[in-house]
Amino acid sequence: MVTKGRVLLVVQSLLYRLVFAQNATDNLRYVDPLIGSANGGNVFAGATLPYGMAKAVADVDSESNQGGFTTEGGNVTGFSTMHDSGTGGSPSLGNFAFFPYASCPGDELDRCVFPKTARKIHYDANSVVAKPGYFGITLASGVAADMTTAQHTSLFRFKFPATADGGSPLILLDLTDLADSRQDNATISVDAATGRMTGNAKFLPSFGSGSWTAFFCADFKGADIRDNGIFVNSRASADVKDLKVSRGINSGALPGGGFIRFASTPVDGLLARIAVSLISSEQACSSAEAEIPTFDLDTTRATAESAWREKLAPITISTTGVNTSLITNFYSGIYRTMVNPQNYTGENPEWQSSEPYFDSFYCLWDSFRSQLPFLTILDPASLTQMIRSLIDTYEHEGWLPDCRMSLCKGYTQGGSNADVVLTDGYIKGLKDGIDWEKGYQAVVKDAEVEPYDWSNEGRGGLDSWKSLGYIPTQDFDYKGFGTMTRSVSRSLEYAYNDFCIARMANGLGGKDDDVEKYTERSNNWKNLYYKDQRSLLFNGSDTGFTGFFQGRFMNGTWNTQDPLWCSTIDPDTSRVCSLQSTGQETFESSLWEYGFYVPGDQAALIALYGGPEGFVKRLNYLHDKNITYIGNEPSFLTVFQYHYAGRPALSALRSHFYIPSFFSPVHDGLPGNDDSGAMGSFVAMSMMGLFPNPGQNVYLITPPFFERISITSPITGKTAVIRNLNFDPSYRAIYIQSATLDGVEYTKNWIDHSFFTEGKELVLTLGRNESAWGTRVQDLPPSLSEYVGFGNGTGTGNNKTVVVERGRRARRNARVGLAESADMGGFFAADLL
Ligand SMILES: *[C@@H]1O[C@H](CO)[C@@H](O)[C@H](O)[C@H]1NC(C)=O
Ligand SMILES: *[C@@H]1O[C@H](CO)[C@@H](O)[C@H](O)[C@H]1NC(C)=O
Ligand SMILES: *[C@@H]1O[C@H](CO)[C@@H](O)[C@H](O)[C@H]1NC(C)=O
Ligand SMILES: *[C@@H]1O[C@H](CO)[C@@H](O)[C@H](O)[C@H]1NC(C)=O
Ligand SMILES: *[C@@H]1O[C@H](CO)[C@@H](O)[C@H](O)[C@H]1NC(C)=O
Ligand SMILES: *[C@@H]1O[C@H](CO)[C@@H](O)[C@H](O)[C@H]1NC(C)=O
Ligand SMILES: *[C@@H]1O[C@H](CO)[C@@H](O)[C@H](O)[C@H]1NC(C)=O
Ligand SMILES: *[C@@H]1O[C@H](CO)[C@@H](O)[C@H](O)[C@H]1NC(C)=O
Ligand SMILES: *[C@@H]1O[C@H](CO)[C@@H](O)[C@H](O)[C@H]1NC(C)=O
Ligand SMILES: *[C@@H]1O[C@H](CO)[C@@H](O)[C@H](O)[C@H]1NC(C)=O
Ligand SMILES: *[C@@H]1O[C@H](CO)[C@@H](O)[C@H](O)[C@H]1NC(C)=O
Repeated sequence: MVTKGRVLLVVQSLLYRLVFAQNATDNLRYVDPLIGSANGGNVFAGATLPYGMAKAVADVDSESNQGGFTTEGGNVTGFSTMHDSGTGGSPSLGNFAFFPYASCPGDELDRCVFPKTARKIHYDANSVVAKPGYFGITLASGVAADMTTAQHTSLFRFKFPATADGGSPLILLDLTDLADSRQDNATISVDAATGRMTGNAKFLPSFGSGSWTAFFCADFKGADIRDNGIFVNSRASADVKDLKVSRGINSGALPGGGFIRFASTPVDGLLARIAVSLISSEQACSSAEAEIPTFDLDTTRATAESAWREKLAPITISTTGVNTSLITNFYSGIYRTMVNPQNYTGENPEWQSSEPYFDSFYCLWDSFRSQLPFLTILDPASLTQMIRSLIDTYEHEGWLPDCRMSLCKGYTQGGSNADVVLTDGYIKGLKDGIDWEKGYQAVVKDAEVEPYDWSNEGRGGLDSWKSLGYIPTQDFDYKGFGTMTRSVSRSLEYAYNDFCIARMANGLGGKDDDVEKYTERSNNWKNLYYKDQRSLLFNGSDTGFTGFFQGRFMNGTWNTQDPLWCSTIDPDTSRVCSLQSTGQETFESSLWEYGFYVPGDQAALIALYGGPEGFVKRLNYLHDKNITYIGNEPSFLTVFQYHYAGRPALSALRSHFYIPSFFSPVHDGLPGNDDSGAMGSFVAMSMMGLFPNPGQNVYLITPPFFERISITSPITGKTAVIRNLNFDPSYRAIYIQSATLDGVEYTKNWIDHSFFTEGKELVLTLGRNESAWGTRVQDLPPSLSEYVGFGNGTGTGNNKTVVVERGRRARRNARVGLAESADMGGFFAADLL
């Protein structure tokens, strides 16, 4: 029965589509997948659907080929179909590469070069075309490749230059992966009549434990088959159709795979279609047949493009006056938030479930801060499925993941930050099939039960956590095992994880004891505050700040980690600050930077740091002296923490200090690994002018980088709008003088998620000087404690042009070893003032 309400809904949704179809076309135009393809951005630059499992691109041998392709001029080793994006550590995935030859020299099969290390070849840098859902490149051999993907299937087209001898083009399929992690007993079978290749191989995850197996199904089209067979090492034969190959004892797995030769060289090229599955080759074949039945590259590409168009449609901006490079920056950042995680629903061999299954949460330590919160706004339906998948992983593996890739448990970097992810989704009202009671059980288990192996899940040191109220440096822990470092950063993260659990308990209701218990534990960060800790620069000068977090032994004695160790300005490049057993008590950053990581109780922290003025002075020092590095995620919130000290103007200034100086829409424009889109989300949320404090129903308000931005909630269909009055595209007027929300004066410097779901309108009046707006205690974001030591509007004393030191490219903060390294990016002089 069609009701009146329903008709209205349909009409609204049609209108919505009409309006957005037009704007969305533009959005796609601004996406450049090559941003971050050089200098350690490690992005996946190839063709994929949003969250797609098939990710097709040319793989190169450059040092930072974690995402497959780079624009650093490496040589192409093949065209593979599974990838991650922006990850550090060793290269991820890159499974089952094709490699094309126009012909084998002298028409002799063995004179085609089969092994990856020998066959690799340079490419024409000008030939690279990267668009959402599409990638094209021409090799030095003259072979032009282009490609697109469906959910599990990639379609490659190889066009060959005319060869003098009119030889037989050959395409090989390699059982390798990017990191050469293949294990024993990979197999391939080639069907003589059709050329279909099926098989599987076992690989290792790139930042985790265990192993995983992938299956494939490849088919070819475009010319009659001349012959086919298998290769191993540097030799091939058309007489052998099945291969089972060992890993071998040398570094790099033994070369092995299949090949097919064609009787002619069609001008339209040859098509190679490959689907992957984690279940079976049969499943891969049925995906291939269902998803790209007729090998139609144009249609498949158009479908991929419209999938992206739809994803980007909810956010429209006014481009008036704005430098196109910023628009590209913005939409490309948004695009990168939906490349990973990957939707492996229906492909999980680990357990039987009707719940969705997502993989490549790589890692939550990166994505909990702004990427997943961003998806709560832009793509809540997908985030809902991701959360269901996290909870289902708890159900079947016993624990929420902290990092997960390729069906394996990834390494935990700090706290159990899935607790923050779940809480953030919960308080922002995600529903749709999420079993929140089970989700709550999962986060409580993180807080209460210590796993045997807390390198991969949960938390370590829980006995100490409960009895001492901190994770001690050199803890005595016989119940569970993991790297015994990071006691300070783990304590701070555990404390915030507990804060989030308390929030969730509060929301679910009937859990008063838990609310009290976890709120209490969320104060544990205070136990590591050493009020007499000083901080000297490396030349001996005093920074002038006293009172820092510090490691503490079980007997209560303080450790002596220098607050600047592991900061960007630490001159000792041999110091390790990641997961090495010799690492420091802070993960990938300094005591200085972790000194701000109390997201639940900024009021108490501000009081410790001498009130808002002392806090702001310290936060400025952190940024101005290069102590923090925007290329690593713990820095994200520090850009906006001025809000808590009643100085929202300084957050606005600071975000312009970093964007575009440290994030620019060029190949080497990212300040480090994109980390599965974490950096992209920082750009997107900073530029849209609402930055989350994840786990809380809070967005900190700064002026968007555009005159107008509108975001339509895919759940309610309502459109939230932010307008800047007195918008200044030169970004001198970036200070909010006054604001209205739905026409009513609004003085709070933050807003909650109902802004998006209820489609409110925020109008900001901008000026060139800091104002009193958002500066009074009653304007500040929520904090566990009361704000003390504030005057009545700290901003009134700051009615002048604000000056900060100009941004300079921070020194490389990459850490050797397992770490997701944070590499440096290009610097472009900021013109802030
Ligand atoms: C989208 O574009 C259309 C036509 O240019 C315009 O009328 C409409 O206001 C735009 N929508 C938004 C939300 O900006
Ligand atoms: C890259 O390929 C070119 C030819 O295309 C070759 O001359 C060069 O040696 C290769 N470089 C490496 C490092 O393999
Ligand atoms: C590989 O295959 C051989 C022979 O079939 C078998 O003995 C061996 O256990 C297999 N290895 C693995 C790791 O499965
Ligand atoms: C736009 O930004 C780019 C990159 O920062 C800069 O090179 C260019 O000059 C700017 N264009 C205008 C018109 O300001
Ligand atoms: C994930 O894949 C499943 C199965 O193909 C599909 O039903 C679901 O809609 C997908 N989810 C997203 C967010 O794309
Ligand atoms: C140490 O370095 C700081 C900052 O570069 C500088 O201001 C100070 O004068 C230096 N102190 C000494 C003793 O050289
Ligand atoms: C506390 O333990 C640390 C580390 O074992 C030790 O260096 C220190 O001397 C101890 N302090 C006291 C007061 O016993
Ligand atoms: C920050 O780092 C840059 C580049 O490494 C350097 O030029 C600049 O002087 C540094 N600033 C401070 C305050 O140390
Ligand atoms: C800031 O100063 C200007 C001119 O000096 C004045 O008009 C304005 O009212 C002041 N704003 C605040 C918030 O004090
Ligand atoms: C803040 O305002 C209140 C009420 O207007 C006043 O009683 C109090 O003294 C003021 N405090 C400061 C620090 O100005
Ligand atoms: C902005 O601040 C500057 C420097 O304090 C002052 O000269 C100017 O009058 C202020 N402008 C406005 C519009 O308040």
